[in-house]
Amino acid sequence: MKLLHIDSSVLGPHSVSRQVSAAIVDRLRQATPSLDITYRDLTQTPLAHLSGSHLAAAQGAPAPAELGPDLAASAAALDEFLAADIVVIGAPMYNFTIPSQLKAWIDRILVVGKTFKYGAAGPEGLAGGKRVIVAISRGGYYGVETPYAAGEHLESYLRWVFGFMGITGVEFIPADGVQVGPDHREKSLAGALQAATSLRAA
Ligand SMILES: Cc1cc2nc3c(=O)[nH]c(=O)nc-3n(C[C@H](O)[C@H](O)[C@H](O)COP(=O)(O)O)c2cc1C
Repeated sequence: MKLLHIDSSVLGPHSVSRQVSAAIVDRLRQATPSLDITYRDLTQTPLAHLSGSHLAAAQGAPAPAELGPDLAASAAALDEFLAADIVVIGAPMYNFTIPSQLKAWIDRILVVGKTFKYGAAGPEGLAGGKRVIVAISRGGYYGVETPYAAGEHLESYLRWVFGFMGITGVEFIPADGVQVGPDHREKSLAGALQAATSLRAA
């Protein structure tokens, strides 16, 4: 069974989402030592933003030579995703949504004919059957009862993106309010780490 572990926080060892995503992977690895784990750090090895040349190449136009390495990296990212049975993602909230590094990765995996297609009844997901677990960290609180609920475009966005590819039941482990104060951060992180240890085995 293959697990793809992705991190996208720019805060290195100070990152909350990295600590929680690592705890999730540890829990799953302990429960299933035979897991085949691939790690991708989107800040250490970022994928470029899409350009007109990328889109032309996807339509079959000859790609400029300088795009070659990037297209290879793109194909590798898509292959890793398609091969994974479980995907664990560390996803911090930056400016109300995912980091641009994570968006650049999504731009490489949300590919017509690979992870979704247009059928007679509209778009159909082609990547169903994967288990996706997301460690999200947010500076504030975005629950439905809060004044900031309408600004939540992290969890809702990822739920939509994976649902579009046919992946339902995405599991979110949130650490919220981590910028509200040290006590909030400590309690929230402890709760998320505890939730990670209680995850169902792979
Ligand atoms: C550039 C930047 C933008 C941020 N924007 C938001 C935001 O819009 N809403 C929020 O609640 N917290 C925001 N925060 C706080 C982060 O969500 C919080 O620090 C979280 O722990 C980041 O996850 P990480 O520690 O894994 O990087 C922002 C932090 C940074 C560095």
